[in-house]
Amino acid sequence: MKPFLVLLSAVAGMFAQTDPLSLPRIVQKEGRYALLVDGAPYLILGAQVNNSSAWPAVLPKVWPAIEYLQANTVEIPVYWEQFEPEPGRFDYSTVDTILGQAREHHVRLVLLWFGTWKNASSHYMPLWMKRDPERYPRMIGANGRLVDSPSPHAPATLAADKHAFAALMRHLKATDPHRTVIMVQVENEAGTYGSVRDHSPDAQKAFEGPVPAELLAALDKHPGSPSATWSEVFGADADEFFHAWSVAHFIGQVAAAGKAEYPLPLYANAALRDPLHPGPPGSYESGGPTDNVLPIWKAAAPALDVLAPDIYQDDPARYLKALELYRRPDNPLFVPETGDSPASARFFFAALGHGATGYAPFGIDYTGYSNAPLGAARLDEESLAPFALNYTLIGPIMREIARLNFEGKLQTAVEEKDEHSQTLAFGVWKAVVSYGLPQFGFGNNPRGNPEPIGRALVAQLADNQFLVAGLFCRVDFQLSDASSGKQREYLRVEEGKSIRIWNGDQTDWGLNFTAAPQVLRVTLGAY
Ligand code: DGJ
Repeated sequence: MKPFLVLLSAVAGMFAQTDPLSLPRIVQKEGRYALLVDGAPYLILGAQVNNSSAWPAVLPKVWPAIEYLQANTVEIPVYWEQFEPEPGRFDYSTVDTILGQAREHHVRLVLLWFGTWKNASSHYMPLWMKRDPERYPRMIGANGRLVDSPSPHAPATLAADKHAFAALMRHLKATDPHRTVIMVQVENEAGTYGSVRDHSPDAQKAFEGPVPAELLAALDKHPGSPSATWSEVFGADADEFFHAWSVAHFIGQVAAAGKAEYPLPLYANAALRDPLHPGPPGSYESGGPTDNVLPIWKAAAPALDVLAPDIYQDDPARYLKALELYRRPDNPLFVPETGDSPASARFFFAALGHGATGYAPFGIDYTGYSNAPLGAARLDEESLAPFALNYTLIGPIMREIARLNFEGKLQTAVEEKDEHSQTLAFGVWKAVVSYGLPQFGFGNNPRGNPEPIGRALVAQLADNQFLVAGLFCRVDFQLSDASSGKQREYLRVEEGKSIRIWNGDQTDWGLNFTAAPQVLRVTLGAY
């Protein structure tokens, strides 16, 4: 083959085939990201189980919920207390059971390392560590009292966590040639409630010492003196930034130790500040990867590939803002936890529109436990249905969606109360999304669903070709330039892979989507 033909076919074939042996990894192109699994872009249609559901005896209550949801990836904890019951003795049996059952159920795994931090506390430390608080200390608050959060200034804790996490990653490398595990979360919602930073003697000494040169360089800070202290450089932010650096630097070292064994993509998740109106430091978890300290985390923990928001929000403005804050040129967007209220299911589409590589509602299993507010139904097929609908629709095209997103071709819309119509711009074309019923007739546009549950996705395949999918909405196309006097024409609207061609009532008034999972390939003309 001539050289230029080789090159051409290499580009055309990029991602065309999957390679099951290749290591999962994250790639970046012009500020957009893809998670490559089996060598091709992959979209995590995830589900995270409840905290205490990763025990072999409980797994039978996990799989039916995962199957009903049609998730392709399960996020599931590995508990340090189970994994290292005695110092240096590792028990791989639970991890092995989870891996084996995940393969049987044809899903991938994201393992959650519940290590030094779990929701700010150290409750998952093994018993032998809990019984030795001198060696593995908690933090001390400004008032001199102990805080229920591990000190990030404890060398023995760091050494133990690195050792255990490295053992986990080494074991995965040895036993998971199938790449069942595609990503690992390092700790869980690290940081602290109840004190902005650690006031233990070691922490205090570091706080009164110089800001590390690599942080100054990363933040482009140039204090007059190289020994400038945290307070001198950061003023009122000093306590919070110091704690963020301390926690991130600790976790960065744990992550690096694991990555040296087996270089899977690694991430840390964040308990968010209010995305629109954050309160003062101390009113949210301090030290974790909140939106205001992402550059500090990036500098302190380069072994982490992703800093990921756990988004528990029903308010669209706040949900969208959280997505915006974590989608950065230096950070792939991944939503590892999100609420399971029915109305929030539509935000899956918002995440896709922000280029997300994955998304996972939390608490997905039939153990009967629910974090939902009192009075809400426990998790069952009825409450899972809005989420299952997302995955039923997108599952069959998830590779294509991940690729189109990586190429910057995809946009989405989600319904907001009292906002019945939204427009997505695609050069000469615009897609107008309106929500609800009726389906029939011009000038008779849908006026919103009784509850805001509508969602739509439009991706440009070629100049005049689009992939369109949606739920509870109408999508119609118009020429962007109204002065052209031209009208759109549906030349061909194909449903699925050769299921049928839409025409007549199904296209005359726009493309109407109900609860039926339908994906259309639309070719437009103008007259
Ligand atoms: C966020 C944590 O990361 C999860 O482990 C779990 O505790 C949820 N909160 C509960 O809503």
